[in-house]
Amino acid sequence: MPRLSQWIIRTAFVYLLLGFTFGALLLWHKGVPLHPALWGWLPAHIEFLLIGWIVQLTMGVAFWILPRFWERERRGKEALVWAAFALLNLGIWLVVAYSVFQADRLFLLAGRGAEIGAAVFFALHAWSRTLSREGA
Ligand code: HEM
Repeated sequence: MPRLSQWIIRTAFVYLLLGFTFGALLLWHKGVPLHPALWGWLPAHIEFLLIGWIVQLTMGVAFWILPRFWERERRGKEALVWAAFALLNLGIWLVVAYSVFQADRLFLLAGRGAEIGAAVFFALHAWSRTLSREGA
């Protein structure tokens, strides 16, 4: 597995842990109230699991598994995937700053923009690697 996939997949596991922890606390809180502020973390639970875990794990595995080229740059333009990795994580925390910590609405716009940017960069990288066994 390439080093970049290791970074992305391990980061995804951190979000899985965070997301499940908040999920478990919320579930507990529904049965036995713990703290009224806990519901404020529901958006973080959703963001961490849908984007931080599911999207990020997919990115990490796709970078590893898509067909390689014969040339020196065997996995294509790696810089695009580093940019996608950075933007996705920046986006997650900007969205959480808005939805949990009531930061300005601009944080939400910037966060979603960063996440869309991550998807675009990743797609730009992956497009040329989406090939059949015959290379066409
Ligand atoms: C990949 C796994 C998961 C994903 C993508 C996910 C996603 C979501 C989403 C989208 C919601 C909002 C649902 C709505 O507003 O209708 C939600 C709510 C919730 N989730 Fe999760 N979740 C996951 C795993 C878990 C786990 C493992 C737990 C508990 C241990 C959990 C506990 C909760 C609770 C308590 C709520 C609030 C339900 C309510 O509104 O009454 N989630 N989750």
